[in-house]
Amino acid sequence: MPETKSASPQAVQSYCQEHASRFEDELCELLRIESVSADSTRRGEVRKAAQWVADQFKKLGLKTELCETPGHPIVFAESPAVLGAPVVLVYGHYDVQPPDPLNEWISPAFEPTRRDGNLYARGATDDKGQMFTHVKSAEAWLKTAGALPVQLKYLIEGEEEVGSRNLDEFIEANRDRLKCDIVVVSDTSQFAPDVPAVTYGLRGIAYYELRLVGPKQDLHSGTFGGAVTNPANALVQMLSALIDERGRVQVPGFYDDVLPLTKEERQQIAELDFSEAEFMRQIGVRALSGENGFSTLERKSARPTFDINGLTSGYQGEGAKTVLPAKASAKFSFRLVPKQDPHKITQALRGALEKLLPPGITMELEEFHGAPGVVVPLDSPYMAAAARAIEKGFGRAPVYIREGGSIPVVNSFKDLLGVDTLLLGWGQNDDNTHSPNEKFSIADFHRGIRTSAWLWDELSRMKRA
Ligand code: BES
Ligand code: ZN
Repeated sequence: MPETKSASPQAVQSYCQEHASRFEDELCELLRIESVSADSTRRGEVRKAAQWVADQFKKLGLKTELCETPGHPIVFAESPAVLGAPVVLVYGHYDVQPPDPLNEWISPAFEPTRRDGNLYARGATDDKGQMFTHVKSAEAWLKTAGALPVQLKYLIEGEEEVGSRNLDEFIEANRDRLKCDIVVVSDTSQFAPDVPAVTYGLRGIAYYELRLVGPKQDLHSGTFGGAVTNPANALVQMLSALIDERGRVQVPGFYDDVLPLTKEERQQIAELDFSEAEFMRQIGVRALSGENGFSTLERKSARPTFDINGLTSGYQGEGAKTVLPAKASAKFSFRLVPKQDPHKITQALRGALEKLLPPGITMELEEFHGAPGVVVPLDSPYMAAAARAIEKGFGRAPVYIREGGSIPVVNSFKDLLGVDTLLLGWGQNDDNTHSPNEKFSIADFHRGIRTSAWLWDELSRMKRA
């Protein structure tokens, strides 16, 4: 077992400061790799990113493996065991969302560019930049103290943005190797600039594509319109029947398993310093809407929703074309809260859509990824250690929030490994994740690294569970 040289957390922090600009340059190298997991033409790039991440761990002297899956590879690395200290599993993802629409980027998506204190690139915050903070904090410990104060295991995957379809199998097959006391994930946001957050809840998701087919080919809408069911009309009617004007999802049984928000939790959410005006300004809208009876913060993080994610049918070219399209399709998803079961929802949804299907149309419903929502316990000693690390790294205590996005593997860590996850986000709500001009504040990147370095120290002071 390696001895920690008179480990001074201060020396670790100084190292982070001294090497700050090299850390940024290294992150830029990773950001130049076009690891879009959804794009099969970029398979090679995805692998290149995996290899790059694996090389980082190897350079730190960690035991590293590039693990093959039926999809994109998983990078696993681990440092030596530390007697009496907890084992920490860091999860992150090196894959990114497609960069489209390309012409809306001020600087190209895969040419990382520094502007106004931010680093702009696809994946800057989600999740290459955030994930990398936990690699650099380990480097700082290894180079100053000679060893890490806790055992770190890293699980960095390449399919998060496409539903982590091979991850559960990997976790099940590698239970022993992944054995740990706590998981750490940085793939969320701060509550606001300079207001760090611990995220204790995430929504789940149930994602679908609905394809409708009518006549055997496109028809003249003058000759046939009025007599033939138009699949595009049918699609919008069916989709709009899935939610009512009060923002309530109309799939039978949809709310059956939804736990009501407690008075205390609603109170706690209401006490967060949230400005609707600022929120509207950020996204460029003049009004907000959603499920009646809930506040904006509740609606976007702790209540289930329905959103159409893509619509395709008919003529999309220049000018007008009077066509009655033969086909129409939509991608849509529900965000779920804990206890809602995506498979149960699929069954009820299929039944509801079949009932809504007008004559003369056939339907096909494909189920993509699904995962329930999660809430993690707030009263654990790990949470307290994380809060202390954040206080040291950010100079103020975190607020506790739920977020609306999904990280499906958090459920798997609980179900398959029996461990809870600390969701410690270094991003900002206006980082443009999944959108053009994604960014990561350079200051947040460095605060993330320093907080991560404090976290290993704080966790090492805990008794092993
Ligand atoms: N980093 C996000 C998750 C996230 C987003 C957490 C916003 C909190 C707030 C992650 O990379 C992501 O986008 N996940 C997908 C999961 C889906 C593909 C199963 C999501 O939420 O859409
Ligand atoms: Zn992410």
